[in-house]
Amino acid sequence: MTRIPVQTLSRSYEVLVERGLLRSAAAALRDILPPDSRLFAVTQAPVRKHWGDVLRKSFNEAGRTVEVVEMPDGERSKTLAQLEKLGSKLVSRGADRQSVILALGGGVVGDVAGFLASVFMRGIPVVQIPTTLVAQVDSAIGGKTGVNLKSGKNLLGTFHQPLAVLADPDVLATLPEREYRSGLFEAMKYGVIRDPAVFELMEANSDALLHRDSALLETLITECIRVKADVVSADERESGERRILNFGHTIGHALEAETDYKQFLHGEAVGWGMIAATVIGMGMQITDSLTAQRIIGLVLAYAPLPRVDVNSEGIAKRLLSDKKTVGGVPHFILPTGVGKVEVVNIVPARAVIEAVEEIKKLSKA
Ligand SMILES: NC(=O)c1ccc[n+]([C@@H]2O[C@H](COP(=O)([O-])OP(=O)(O)OC[C@H]3O[C@@H](n4cnc5c(N)ncnc54)[C@H](O)[C@@H]3O)[C@@H](O)[C@H]2O)c1
Ligand SMILES: [Zn+2]
Repeated sequence: MTRIPVQTLSRSYEVLVERGLLRSAAAALRDILPPDSRLFAVTQAPVRKHWGDVLRKSFNEAGRTVEVVEMPDGERSKTLAQLEKLGSKLVSRGADRQSVILALGGGVVGDVAGFLASVFMRGIPVVQIPTTLVAQVDSAIGGKTGVNLKSGKNLLGTFHQPLAVLADPDVLATLPEREYRSGLFEAMKYGVIRDPAVFELMEANSDALLHRDSALLETLITECIRVKADVVSADERESGERRILNFGHTIGHALEAETDYKQFLHGEAVGWGMIAATVIGMGMQITDSLTAQRIIGLVLAYAPLPRVDVNSEGIAKRLLSDKKTVGGVPHFILPTGVGKVEVVNIVPARAVIEAVEEIKKLSKA
């Protein structure tokens, strides 16, 4: 088993990665969970169907019970109303201040269950057990939780670092194809911002990774988590370093919002966003053309991506109301090489419009 430390001011913990880990979850958590605490797994139907019993059985064999609490599937269940429902369910099942929440699912479950844990009886521990690729390489690590408002995504939330994170690459076998592919774009991000080895692994093995080769997948997930853990350890609250994780996200988020979150999965929008950022970087002479070719080539090697059919001026306008904007100027993470990026605050609207036109063209090719 690989253990990757995350050290933040509020808590130090480990991300455990191993194929088959879910089956031995109880053993892996033996020294981490308080011995008498009641355990509540928050999950969703598709995850419960495939993996709920595996988790329960692991704890049963260790003489402990896991109670399963289900929430509805989908981004639309990331609401404060859902948080209230789950809180009431926990109370009616007898949860107390010593209880622990196990967040078994993708980013939606992780964000909602993490938020719930951070406020339930003023805060109880959570263990993140991510079951999507996005959640394993990204959302389960770093302690960000949140729900959406009508006016925007993740506008209510907390920082609540988990007791531990358990990542079992085997659970990705049941993930729908589009969800899986979408996670690969998030994985790629780490290659561009920090780790050329991740980039090269993905460059050399696109076929095998698309076929979910389990050994390669374990290596990829482990290396991505190392980068995320490193960045989060250096900057828990996203004041500086952590911003590089937004590579591909400035335009990615705008694409998602401009299409009412209906056309792209998050990772797919990030895929296009990474190309757009690269095109902007090239135009501003920050990204050399060889680096740009490699990044664009890598994204396209993991296609298909949904077609981009948006108004590029609409995208440019949206960027001015981005939550991650600093002082009214959106920040862009632009590649200066494979494994290196720069944070740039002044990108002319025209460069954004041209980059969006470019991805529109590529998406129709
Ligand atoms: N907190 C953070 O730092 C952070 C970072 C990135 C993304 N996020 C959030 O994560 C969310 C997206 O997460 P996601 O991409 O994991 O989507 P998701 O949680 O909606 O999961 C996608 C779908 O896959 C199903 N599923 C999950 N695991 C499965 C499995 N092993 N087998 C079969 N089906 C499975 C789910 O039930 C769901 O239908 C967004 O809300 C985003 O805001 C948070
Ligand atoms: Zn993302």
